[in-house]
Amino acid sequence: MYNRELYIPRIAKIKEIKTLTRDTKLFRVVFKNKGPELSLEHEFLPGQFVQVSVFGAGEVPISIASSPQDEGFLELSIRRVGYVSSHFHKLNVGNEIGIRGPYGNYFLKGHNGAKDFLFAGGGCGLAPLRSLIKYMLSDPRRFPRLTVLYGARTKDDILFRDELYALRESDTAEVNLSVDCGPADPGCEIGVVTTLFKKFKDLRDTLAFLCGPSLMMHFAIQELLNLRVKPEHIILSLERYMKCGVGKCGHCYLKDKYVCTDGPVFSYKDLKELGVEI
Ligand SMILES: Cc1cc2nc3c(=O)[nH]c(=O)nc-3n(C[C@H](O)[C@H](O)[C@H](O)COP(=O)(O)OP(=O)(O)OC[C@H]3O[C@@H](n4cnc5c(N)ncnc54)[C@H](O)[C@@H]3O)c2cc1C
Ligand code: FES
Repeated sequence: MYNRELYIPRIAKIKEIKTLTRDTKLFRVVFKNKGPELSLEHEFLPGQFVQVSVFGAGEVPISIASSPQDEGFLELSIRRVGYVSSHFHKLNVGNEIGIRGPYGNYFLKGHNGAKDFLFAGGGCGLAPLRSLIKYMLSDPRRFPRLTVLYGARTKDDILFRDELYALRESDTAEVNLSVDCGPADPGCEIGVVTTLFKKFKDLRDTLAFLCGPSLMMHFAIQELLNLRVKPEHIILSLERYMKCGVGKCGHCYLKDKYVCTDGPVFSYKDLKELGVEI
């Protein structure tokens, strides 16, 4: 049945814009008509995404990059790649956008008991992982040991660079960075993100979260399997072309799943069983 309500965005206002790299900006947004029924805060879990509309340009799916514990705002990190994202980058503080969602599933589903968590991100794949990392950092008893591996093209392409460096300094998480080509900052490796796996011998009790370009995820999965991580403990966020975000249009169809509603988070085991090659 056609449900018009599904497609009506809520209006949000841009409160802050931070340039993260030459092609990526972080937008902090707040809902215009605040009220319990309109607030998204505390209503999503890391890994979920929203459909963001730039009026007159179009709508795109974007991961929520802030933590559910960040009260009163949402953060969206947006890379300028094409038509809608370029229009997004032209917006200023005070401009209004539309937001539908949150949509999709989330990273932490039935993984109680794990103590070691590893995040492997490439490029703008760090956005949904950042939401999860921030969420886990706020509960060290439940999530005691966090390791972040992140790779970017060059040192100027490192997303959330200040935060990653502060995290490394703080010793609350182990942070390992790589850049595909130098020069690199001290402590940052030169090479693809998988070079960062060299230092590990056995990760059999680790829960690993991945998000990034397909090639990066393909090789990261091979490294994790070699390090004895169970296929069901390799959790990936997939990017697929989407339109509706709510399981109606079929644009994101993958085998017999819709990435927008059954995903975007899948375990490697689930994907293998579906016959999806990563
Ligand atoms: C669940 C999900 C979460 C996402 N989270 C983020 C995020 O946090 N930050 C972010 O910057 N981007 C994110 N994306 C990707 C983002 O939706 C696309 O970059 C955006 O739709 C591009 O729109 P455009 O009009 O600017 O580009 P277009 O003009 O439509 O296309 C420009 C180029 O980008 C490619 N492209 C467009 N959409 C996608 C896509 N979904 N996957 C792969 N390639 C694509 C096109 O093939 C083309 O080469 C996410 C996508 C999904 C599905
Ligand atoms: S985007 Fe329409 S069905 Fe998934």
